[in-house]
Amino acid sequence: MKGKFITFEGCEGVGKSRQIKLLEEYLVKNGIQYYLTREPGGTEISEQIRAIILDGKNLAMTDECEALLYAAARVQLIKEEIEPRLKRGELVFCDRYVDSSLAYQGKARGLGYDFIRNINAYACDNFMPDLTIFLNLSPEDAFKRKGGADSADRLEISGMEFHKRVYAGYLELAGKNPERFAVIDASGTKEQTSGKIVAVLKEKGII
Ligand SMILES: Nc1ncnc2c1ncn2[C@@H]1O[C@H](COP(=O)(O)OP(=O)(O)O)[C@@H](O)[C@H]1O
Ligand SMILES: [Mg+2]
Repeated sequence: MKGKFITFEGCEGVGKSRQIKLLEEYLVKNGIQYYLTREPGGTEISEQIRAIILDGKNLAMTDECEALLYAAARVQLIKEEIEPRLKRGELVFCDRYVDSSLAYQGKARGLGYDFIRNINAYACDNFMPDLTIFLNLSPEDAFKRKGGADSADRLEISGMEFHKRVYAGYLELAGKNPERFAVIDASGTKEQTSGKIVAVLKEKGII
């Protein structure tokens, strides 16, 4: 029996972390077993790669190097955690996955989708998610919601134009992969969004 692999995507500050927490509460309350991980990271080696990517000292890192490091962290996570669990029939959630590379490095940084697809082909060809939950909220709206200083800071650091390109990338990816993407309107209250996520997971027979 093959398990189910579900990823969460969306722009900075749209509420991914919060929604994953709410989903965990629902799953625990209903006695549903799951495994949650995140990208980049999720294994000792992948977390070390994450530290290199996020190290402020590494200003000279090229976009290509960054994209390759994300792919390296991803293949380690797949082999160590995701693949074995899916083989055992488990339910696996991941906070960000290859669509983040496509939207951020491919679209927003301008490397192109093909470059990202090619370097990720080995890493995740057979491990595309069964379902990708895209929390749909524009970066402007996320910023306006003033969800907190943290999200505002992160949005300001890289610049709104960059995040708008990320958002455009996500919309393109969702448009091209309608069978895999569940586009969830994330403009409502956190409870409303959480309800929509649970409803989609039920509708798809995942929980
Ligand atoms: N539905 C919502 N309504 C209002 N504020 C929200 C909502 N969802 C999330 N937030 C707030 O927005 C900010 C960013 O949320 P977070 O879960 O950290 O987003 P992400 O993980 O996608 O970056 C947080 O301060 C959070 O409290
Ligand atoms: Mg988060």
